[in-house]
Amino acid sequence: MPGTQLIKPRIREILSEDLTPELLDMLPKHWVRIGDVLILPLRPELEPYKERIAEVYARVLNVKTVVRKGRIKGEFRETNYEVLYGNDTVTTHVENGVKYRLDVARIMFSPANVRERIRMAGVAKPGELVVDMFAGVGHLSLPMAVHGKARVVALEKSPYTFRFLVENIELNRVRDRMTAYNIDNRDFPGENIADRVLMGYVVKTHEFIPKALSIVRDGGIIHYHNTVPAKLMPEEPFGTFRRVAEEHGYRVEKLNELVIKRYAPGVWHVVVDVRVFRE
Ligand SMILES: C[S@@+](CC[C@H](N)C(=O)[O-])C[C@H]1O[C@@H](n2cnc3c(N)ncnc32)[C@H](O)[C@@H]1O
Repeated sequence: MPGTQLIKPRIREILSEDLTPELLDMLPKHWVRIGDVLILPLRPELEPYKERIAEVYARVLNVKTVVRKGRIKGEFRETNYEVLYGNDTVTTHVENGVKYRLDVARIMFSPANVRERIRMAGVAKPGELVVDMFAGVGHLSLPMAVHGKARVVALEKSPYTFRFLVENIELNRVRDRMTAYNIDNRDFPGENIADRVLMGYVVKTHEFIPKALSIVRDGGIIHYHNTVPAKLMPEEPFGTFRRVAEEHGYRVEKLNELVIKRYAPGVWHVVVDVRVFRE
């Protein structure tokens, strides 16, 4: 495995036998590695050479599978990435001492959310009850159980993603304090119980604010994520949260607000930590 600074010239050198100088200039300069699977953004011009390109990246970067970066879509935030090289897209990614097993071709795992996953490891306190309304494979709540020693109830609607969530609870040996349910979070019966509620979702998160309010205890904290057009910031996303909370008889206190990443041109993924009180 060559040193990082040698990777790009090496890839270019090998592919110079197959591609014109113009096409060589279009080769991806950035990629994401999750476990031993590579996510490669590829321009349409490189379509006829995609398998050969993927094979060379796999060899030089020493990964078993290469998938092509595409859009994340739908209620379950599925990736449906095209497999370009190899066939096994299930891998174990280790980050901040937490093991995440997932299928990279179907389940999103955003490298841009790494700071938030690390932050969550630090905010939870031992014994606190966290309800993760959009658990995924445990993206945000595994660090809280592993490092924060919090008790976690993780809710995940997709049966496919749920299988990995259950596996990750075993893999990280947190079965004594983390439980997963394969349900729509709107069907979760717990009320007034959580010290913290995680709302790690985008685009439609505001529709779930009333449910989060019913799950959190008086004085508890909700970590509210959403995507916001830049022109509505800094009022949003907190403005909508406060309005809905007040309509439901709650008083809110904003503790913290962070921009997580650029979601689309002119649209940001933001998280707000809000303490809520019943009036
Ligand atoms: C985008 S992932 C986010 C994972 C993680 N919270 C993060 O922020 O990185 C959101 C997850 O929520 C799940 N989901 C969507 N709607 C849901 C619902 N109503 N109840 C439970 N899970 C839901 C999706 O299947 C998906 O796995």
